[in-house]
Amino acid sequence: MSALIDNVMDFARGRLGGGIALTRDGESPLAPTLEQVVSEIQSGHPERKIVAQYDLADVVPVDHQRIAQMLSNLLGNAVTHGSPTEPIRVDASISDGLLKLSVANSGDPIPEQSLSKLFQPFKRGEGSSSLQGLGLGLYIASQIAEAHGGKLDVQSDESETRFVFRMPVDAHAAAMDSAP
Ligand SMILES: Nc1ncnc2c1ncn2[C@@H]1O[C@H](COP(=O)(O)OP(=O)(O)OP(=O)(O)O)[C@@H](O)[C@H]1O
Ligand SMILES: [Mg+2]
Repeated sequence: MSALIDNVMDFARGRLGGGIALTRDGESPLAPTLEQVVSEIQSGHPERKIVAQYDLADVVPVDHQRIAQMLSNLLGNAVTHGSPTEPIRVDASISDGLLKLSVANSGDPIPEQSLSKLFQPFKRGEGSSSLQGLGLGLYIASQIAEAHGGKLDVQSDESETRFVFRMPVDAHAAAMDSAP
């Protein structure tokens, strides 16, 4: 419920004020933030297998709370919309100047015609019941990605559905340097 309210508030704020404001942290490692989200969602769904792998040698100046919210939205989706019997994979890495965070699950592929609309607000899958969410999670996650100078993408086929956040580390560092 609190995640749902956060999403609605962020939607309203984003519409009124032009995007999501960030508080970047240039000192703390990202892995513990991601681990916290994974363990919260894992403890809410003990029957699900979540396999997380981190390869985060460098510190990247990101907004930890926002990245946590993005991962929480993506992981929540994998739990809600993915196959209940197959593992969910979370991978985070920094290599070749790119921070990558991906969440992958098995299950029915997302129809081709839905893929391009997923990141629009209030877009939900066709079979979604009224008991499920509003269709804001991916919109907010993509807004968080853009606020970081990155991008959220999706690929979905018979083998898996995967959401990937990519953010150039150097571009971000340069933006930080020129900040007042
Ligand atoms: N990991 C996934 N696997 C399969 N389908 C997905 C996945 N993530 C999202 N979807 C589809 O995309 C739609 C939009 O996702 P989004 O997170 O924006 O909304 P929601 O989960 O329906 O509601 P909310 O996130 O606001 O609670 C979902 O309704 C679902 O149909
Ligand atoms: Mg969702």
